[in-house]
Amino acid sequence: MRDRDADKRLAAETAVGEVRDHMLVGLGTGSTAAHAIAALAARGLRIETVATSEASAALARSKGLVVRDFADVAHVDLAIDGADAIDARLRCVKGAGGAMLREKVVAEAARRMLVIADGTKRVARLGATALPVEVLPFARAFVLDRLSAYFVRCVERAGYRTDNGHIVIDGHGWDDASPRALADRLMAVPGVVGHGLFLREVDAAYIAENGIVTRLER
Ligand code: 5RP
Repeated sequence: MRDRDADKRLAAETAVGEVRDHMLVGLGTGSTAAHAIAALAARGLRIETVATSEASAALARSKGLVVRDFADVAHVDLAIDGADAIDARLRCVKGAGGAMLREKVVAEAARRMLVIADGTKRVARLGATALPVEVLPFARAFVLDRLSAYFVRCVERAGYRTDNGHIVIDGHGWDDASPRALADRLMAVPGVVGHGLFLREVDAAYIAENGIVTRLER
């Protein structure tokens, strides 16, 4: 059996095959996205990038990629990012790495978004995966109280701040019968600034399992 990291790298390298010269590429965050950044740099294409985290921006620059400030960008050609869970309809849970808010913005700005993952991320149901919620620190106790209506258990990441200066509360045990309704309810809580449910952003997924890549297209 191959190790998971080899499958992450294979999925990333295969997805990077979609990148062409002159594209503006959105760089995801996490260990699988890091493989994509390395593979992109190795291809030596004439591209520019935007990054979904300070860590990915630093990695991309260290490998010689041009990283633009996303604050100056409205449209991205292709975004490539990892996921914590992905179902057969290409709906995802993201944010174990805490970058889900910037990842959501870049995914939304992208003409096409690819998820790259090893086979362990494929799930029949999303609700078994903890759902990260990004929260204004000012609203911490209030939001924790409101979130208890939607999750069996809410756990704040101790001592953690996102690149945006916010805290993250991981919601464990949630009803995935209607994730759109949950997403709407979460965003309706004042103090919630984002969450890791990606329900319509993903156009295709490259999933590698034991050295075999499967491409799923929406
Ligand atoms: C970060 C993310 C990551 O894409 C997700 O956590 C997957 O990470 P990895 O590729 O390390 O398994 O959403 O916010």
